[in-house]
Amino acid sequence: MAKKILLLPGDGIGPEIVAQAEKVLLFLIRKGKLHVELEHGLIGGSAVDETGFPLPSETVKKAKQSTAILMGSVGGPKWDSIDRPLRPERGLLAIRAELGLFANLRPAFLFSELAKASTLNREVVAGLDLMIVRELTGGIYFGNPRGIRELDDGQREGFNTLVYNEKEIKRIAKVAFETASKRNGRLCSVDKANVLEATELWREVIEKMKKDYPAVELQHMYVDNAAMQLVRKPKQFDVIVTTNMFGDILSDLASMLTGSIGMLPSASLAHDGKGMYEPAHGSAPDIAGKDIANPLATILSLSMLLRYSLFEEELADKLEKSVANVLESGLRTQDINSDGMKCIGTNEMGDAVVNNYSTLVS
Ligand code: IPM
Ligand code: MG
Repeated sequence: MAKKILLLPGDGIGPEIVAQAEKVLLFLIRKGKLHVELEHGLIGGSAVDETGFPLPSETVKKAKQSTAILMGSVGGPKWDSIDRPLRPERGLLAIRAELGLFANLRPAFLFSELAKASTLNREVVAGLDLMIVRELTGGIYFGNPRGIRELDDGQREGFNTLVYNEKEIKRIAKVAFETASKRNGRLCSVDKANVLEATELWREVIEKMKKDYPAVELQHMYVDNAAMQLVRKPKQFDVIVTTNMFGDILSDLASMLTGSIGMLPSASLAHDGKGMYEPAHGSAPDIAGKDIANPLATILSLSMLLRYSLFEEELADKLEKSVANVLESGLRTQDINSDGMKCIGTNEMGDAVVNNYSTLVS
C-alpha cells in the first residue's frame, strides 16, 4: 500500500505556501520517484469555520493513517477572541499531543547567499548551522493544573504548571544526543536549573546520560545566558536541547540570526517514526492571499519530510540544493530581497524550485 502524506494548509499564508511544496511532491510522483498518496485536511481557524473545531476528528483520523504530515500555519486575528479551547493554536497543540510528536527539530542555518539579510555582522553569522531540539509535548504548555480562576478578593489569577518527568526528559535527550553524534558532537542543554525544580531534574537526568555518549561534548547553560550567547556568538552552538517553552522562544531568536524566519523548516517527530513538518514561521495574515509569502521554509520542511519520514536522503539533498541554486540565481521573495536581486511572488518561487529540481532529479 502506498504511504500517505497528509497536507494541512491551515490559515493565513498556509494554503499558498503548502501549494508550492505540493508542486514538488506532484513532480516527484509524476516522475515515479515517490510512491505516495496525497491527502488534504483541515486544521486551525479554517477548520473552526468549516467544522466548529480547530482539530476535527476527521483530521486526526487521516493523520494517524499517514506516514507524514506537511502543515502550513495556523491562526489569525479573526479567531483571536473565540473561546480558548476553539482557538486555532489549540488545534496545533492537540495534533502534537494526539500523535505524540515530542521531538521538535528546528534548524537555523544561513544560506550564504542571504548573509546580508541578517541584522548581525556578517562574520558573526557566516556559516551558521545549528539545530534546536525542542521538547514539544510536555512542560508548561501541557502541565496541569492550568487556567484562570477567581480569587476570594474578587481578582482573577492565571496559572500554569511546569512539569517534566524523567521519562520525558530522557526521550528528548536521547534524540538530542543522537542528533549531536551525527553532527559536530557538541550538545548544549538549556534550562533554568537555578530557579525551577522541573529543570533542575532536567539537568540532572541529562548529565547522567552523558556517559552513554562519550563522543558528545555536553554543556549546560541557563536560558537567559543562552539567549545572550545566541546573539553574541551563535556559532559556539551545534545542537541545543531544551524545554517546550524555552525552545519556542530560542528558536524564534535563532531563526532571526539567519535573516529571515521565512527560510526555516521544522520537523516534529514521534516514537513510531511519524513526523509532522512545518515552516518555523506563522500564518502572516497581513500578507495572506497576496502571492508575496516566501514558500522556501515549507519547501525545506518537505525536504526534512523526505529525509526523516521517507528516508529519501538523495531527494532531500537535491531539494535543498535546488533552493540554494534558485537563491544563487538571484531570485528572491520580498522578505529576503536585496539590491540587484529579482523579486518574485510565491507561485513563481515555487515554480523556480521545481524547475531547478527537475534538472537535478532525472
Ligand atoms: C511554534 C508556535 C506555536 C508554539 C504556537 C502557534 C502554539 O509558536 O510552533 O513555535 O508556541 O509552539
Ligand atoms: Mg513559536
